[in-house]
Amino acid sequence: MPSPVTIVILAAGLGTRMKSRRAKVLHRAGGKALIEHVVETALKLTSADRIAVVVGHQAEEVRKAVKHPGIRFVEQKEQKGTGHAVMVCRDALGEPAGLDQTGLDQSSSDQAGLDQTGSDQARYLMILYGDSPLLLPDTLQRLIDRQRGTDSNPDAKAAGTLLSAMMDDPTGYGRVIRDASDHVAEIVEQKSANPQQLAIREANMGIYCYRADLFWKYVDQIRPDNPAHEYYLTDMVAILDRAGFYVEAMQIANADEALGINDRVDLAHVDRILRHRKARELMIGGVTIERPETVSIDGDVRIGMDSVVEPFARILGRTSIGENCRIGAGAIVQDSAIADGVEIEPYTIVNRSTIESGAQVGPFARLRFDNHVAEGAHIGNFVELKKTHMGAGAKANHLTYLGDTTIGAKTNIGAGTITCNYDGFNKHPTVIGAGAFVGSNSSLIAPVEIGDGAIVGAGSVITDPVPADSLAISRPPQVVKPEWARKRRALVRK
Ligand code: UD1
Ligand code: CA
Repeated sequence: MPSPVTIVILAAGLGTRMKSRRAKVLHRAGGKALIEHVVETALKLTSADRIAVVVGHQAEEVRKAVKHPGIRFVEQKEQKGTGHAVMVCRDALGEPAGLDQTGLDQSSSDQAGLDQTGSDQARYLMILYGDSPLLLPDTLQRLIDRQRGTDSNPDAKAAGTLLSAMMDDPTGYGRVIRDASDHVAEIVEQKSANPQQLAIREANMGIYCYRADLFWKYVDQIRPDNPAHEYYLTDMVAILDRAGFYVEAMQIANADEALGINDRVDLAHVDRILRHRKARELMIGGVTIERPETVSIDGDVRIGMDSVVEPFARILGRTSIGENCRIGAGAIVQDSAIADGVEIEPYTIVNRSTIESGAQVGPFARLRFDNHVAEGAHIGNFVELKKTHMGAGAKANHLTYLGDTTIGAKTNIGAGTITCNYDGFNKHPTVIGAGAFVGSNSSLIAPVEIGDGAIVGAGSVITDPVPADSLAISRPPQVVKPEWARKRRALVRK
């Protein structure tokens, strides 16, 4: 049985540098709130037995953004720093008291239930920051394995391992100060660092795996004695070092993976990386993406083999797309299910709708919401659908509004047809059977029914039921006046 790991995710801060009324971790990148990314990564770690999220600013909204069951929330009422944020978790996690001011151990070793030799019985505390959404579960697992590895030596005094990276520009990050044995002697925050320390390129990524027993024993020694008067979690390194233990740094090759978001420039940068990652994953899975740097595809989107995504398409939310589809340039597809072989032509907007195989939609069509387009149906340019079922092989190719409408298979809806579904008070349904033909520029005043195989003459205003296989036409008869035009011209030219 591998020793269990408790994960604490810090998400209580406002994020002053975002210049926002919204808590930082609620901002979105790659189609998800930052906190969702971090929680989902934590959930993928099989060795994690408990996950706690520290909330403070807009605690209620942050809780709501984390929809996964089994996550505990701990409130940090006042944001006194990253160290303080972890301290407030002690009771909620049932962790023992640490050393009192005199340096005496307040926790009985029984209660702690921990093995000071650091054998495999030890539990681990992994701390993540809610503003670092790019982290990969593999990296976290490697961090845990690394700490476990050092602990397997009973003489080792490794209290924890942190993640670091060499950065071209580490401005804003804590710098990793190493000692003679290459362990981390301390982390110096940007605000407290001297010029020599600022020149260090190895940065603290804000991800730690500590031995839980040692962490909780010494955490109270963090003091807010820095220019920001905050309890810095990063001080734990020097505290443990003084207590005769050491902390190691595991360097990751690519700092991009642990970028923290502090302002909107970081947010855009991280969003771009998340989009790039998703596009790459899809391309490796057999999807063609033209000019991948221009498309926005959310993390949960699925796309089948041999589908093609054209430039500037946006595929969002819980959308699934089958094989052999084409998503045209500039199309926006959100929360929709698209079957195989569907063509979504350029500049088409599809929201909360289902499109069955072989259907064609657009260009410039809008499927507002709750539509069902059956196999092989065609929806053409400037056609809007709302709560409409389009039967198999049915067509509405030009300039049409169909709302609250059910249309049977193989029916043709002529250009300019409008379902008048709203009378100013209520919405009403229109039902059109199979194999029917609605002539161009007809107004169908709902509620109304048109039977199977019926024909509506162009330009009609339909207010009453049209029985199956009949013709309905409602337009004034045409008047022809022979020679009228020629006479008129002659008259005007005089
Ligand atoms: C922190 C690290 C820094 C590291 C960087 C990596 C400290 C003191 N510094 O700096 O060494 O290089 O992350 O990205 O830890 N939070 C709370 N409660 C608080 C304060 C913060 O929950 O009282 C949360 C925030 O919501 C945020 C996270 O902790 O998600 C990190 O806080 P932030 O202020 O962004 O720390 P940095 O200045 O980036
Ligand atoms: Ca940060």
